[in-house]
Amino acid sequence: MIRRALSQVPYPGFTRDVVSFGIVKEIEVSDGSVSVSLALTSSDPEVAPRLKKDVEQALADLEGVEKVEVLVAVKSKKAPEEEPSSNAEEAPMQKVRIAIAVASGKGGVGKSTFTSNLACAMDRILRKAGKPSSVGIMDCDIYGPSIPLMMGVNRRPEVVDGMIQPLENFGVRVMSMGFLVEEDVPVIWRGPMVMKTIQQFASNVDWGELEVLFVDLPPGTGDAQLSLVQTVPLEGAVVVTTPQLAAVNVARRGAMMFDKVNVPLVGVAENMSYLLDEKTGEKSFLFGEGGGERTARYLETDFLGQVPLDPRIREGSDHGVPVVVSDPDIPCSQVFYQIAQQISDKFNLTSGDQE
Ligand SMILES: Nc1ncnc2c1ncn2[C@@H]1O[C@H](COP(=O)(O)OP(=O)(O)O)[C@@H](O)[C@H]1O
Ligand SMILES: [Mg+2]
Repeated sequence: MIRRALSQVPYPGFTRDVVSFGIVKEIEVSDGSVSVSLALTSSDPEVAPRLKKDVEQALADLEGVEKVEVLVAVKSKKAPEEEPSSNAEEAPMQKVRIAIAVASGKGGVGKSTFTSNLACAMDRILRKAGKPSSVGIMDCDIYGPSIPLMMGVNRRPEVVDGMIQPLENFGVRVMSMGFLVEEDVPVIWRGPMVMKTIQQFASNVDWGELEVLFVDLPPGTGDAQLSLVQTVPLEGAVVVTTPQLAAVNVARRGAMMFDKVNVPLVGVAENMSYLLDEKTGEKSFLFGEGGGERTARYLETDFLGQVPLDPRIREGSDHGVPVVVSDPDIPCSQVFYQIAQQISDKFNLTSGDQE
């Protein structure tokens, strides 16, 4: 009965409930008193008290329940113990309010395109709301670190007092594997370098105060991705897919990975959804229809939107100026803005002041 009541309590900001999220660790009942232990990883200080209140409320009215005790353990922002390579860094990325992964099951679906455009769109949304510029990108895609190209930044970052200084463009702070790993290093060497580098990203990059850090993950769902997801304290993940069935299936697998480590899905976004005839408004769905939406439904998360195929997106990326910056008003840019807005709403980024 208690478990059923708990499964009606959504995780703050999400439609998914706390039971299926896997944060309910223990339920103890003796006579009329109930004790529930929750364990979560979150850097948002409002989540724990809110959960406590919501759970208390959900249980208080149950028949036979006289006393409710809710214990919330918030895991600090460091790698979990079972990760042997984590050498007890203390609270890295402390001033990063939320980190959101952009992930996909396979490469070439537009993960980096989303990362760069969402980051630039988010920067503008936050600025408009009177928040100081505070968006970052952490490019962890070792196999194809394309963020430097897309964001128009590519230099070796400086090191000041032992801290790596991110580069900046369009108001967004950028750190990429591409800055650190030489292009001609064979991919086979990159694996081991990755974990080291990611840990450096997490603990030695001088991000300063950030409202949002977007993390461009390598495609796939293997061990590399999993340990990465455990190293960086993620508040949520956006899954990018194209409409085709093949992409949709791997997107699902990608999403399962986040489940394993209790990182909530922010939602599913579909890329290359259709060609738009801007004169008639007619959409041609070249790769089929509804794949992203079905994936979102299957994963019990939100469908964030459909970005059309548009050559201006690729041109923007190739020239180092994301399309949301160069052409903010065209339809494809508008979709990026809408998706960024949804993320902002979900995490209350523009309302209220954070300590
Ligand atoms: N909606 C789109 N319309 C046109 N070209 C796109 C679109 N999305 C991505 N691209 C292009 O497709 C290629 C792959 O995108 P990219 O973001 O690098 O994928 P991933 O990071 O998933 O490997 C890039 O050249 C990019 O500019
Ligand atoms: Mg990429």
